[in-house]
Amino acid sequence: AAPVLIDPYHRRIDYLRVSVTDRCDLRCTYCLPKGFKGFEEPANWLTHQEMSRLVGLFVQLGVRKVRLTGGEPLLRRGIATLAGQIAGLPGLQDLSLSSNGTQLAQHATALRAAGVRRLNISLDTLDESCFARITGRDCLVDVLQGLSVAKAAGFAPIKLNMVVQAGVNEAEVERMVDFSIEHGFILRLIEAMPIGDTGRQTGVVDLTALGLRLAERFGLIPEVKGQGAGPARYWTTADGEMSLGVITPMSQHFCAACNRVRLGVDGTLYLCLGQEDKVALGQQLRAGASDVELSAAIVAAIAAKPERHEFTTQPTKIVRFMSQTGG
Ligand code: GTP
Ligand code: 5AD
Ligand code: SF4
Repeated sequence: AAPVLIDPYHRRIDYLRVSVTDRCDLRCTYCLPKGFKGFEEPANWLTHQEMSRLVGLFVQLGVRKVRLTGGEPLLRRGIATLAGQIAGLPGLQDLSLSSNGTQLAQHATALRAAGVRRLNISLDTLDESCFARITGRDCLVDVLQGLSVAKAAGFAPIKLNMVVQAGVNEAEVERMVDFSIEHGFILRLIEAMPIGDTGRQTGVVDLTALGLRLAERFGLIPEVKGQGAGPARYWTTADGEMSLGVITPMSQHFCAACNRVRLGVDGTLYLCLGQEDKVALGQQLRAGASDVELSAAIVAAIAAKPERHEFTTQPTKIVRFMSQTGG
């Protein structure tokens, strides 16, 4: 039988999120502190070749889906080349990317040609000043431009990630729903998780409750969650024309169905978004470990994957910033 990675809670791990840079051109309030500069030094960063080698080992061990993340992944030099190398790994079935969209217009066509099929784009608001308040930069137009280029380039589906914050963008949910229907995007509403001390507060909205209210208003029915589905729970219209997702790590966590681990830009393997457990695979690789040794280290790491996150409210227990693990 083909190899599979199974964790102590009988979960099959077949999804790897790879952070290709921890840098970002934005400073979203729930992600990074204002003016933050403490990013990893490039000497620690794995090269394209080192990254592809590690990801290739995961794929040999049964990983089927890879998502490229950051920081902002499009800031990584040669991102389309790296994506192409990963897309070409035998056995990989799905390559996707999560981006803030600011540079998407320049990169979309090359990424699509390289084999990236699905895109998730962060978009919390359609209001320019609200966008600037959340991200620290006045560049909503670039993201909108990126989205239209990406759509033309043939990505499917394109999902919009909206972190809903009380008193900030909560009132914009309906406008975002309309925008998503108009353009054929799948909107996902996300509860902010307390990760890294950003020095800013994020007002929590219970999206389990809001999801139910929206479902009633728009006549949506819950989609049955398929095997290996991600953290989002989806609601659709009867004709399937519109789909709305909610990601509720705070009000209703989804850890029992977790299928994923994360690789940092220095090759650190993070076993859970909400725990500190990690293994320095990059260091082992650079110390000359063989493929067999690295594969054994991956299997051993998965055998110690924590059961679940333990997010409560601020202050956070997780010191590292979200940009290190890419969400
Ligand atoms: P799909 O493959 O399209 O389902 O992607 P995704 O929803 O897993 O990835 P994306 O990068 O778009 O992340 C959306 C939100 O889900 C972000 O807020 C992530 O931080 C969050 N998220 C992703 N995976 C996990 C997870 O394992 N645990 C928790 N608590 N949150 C997660
Ligand atoms: N909580 C929840 N989601 C977050 N993201 C970034 N920081 C947080 C947080 N603290 C989201 C971004 C992006 C996705 C990969 O993670 O909005 O869309
Ligand atoms: Fe950058 Fe994404 Fe973090 Fe915003 S959420 S600061 S876009 S890495």
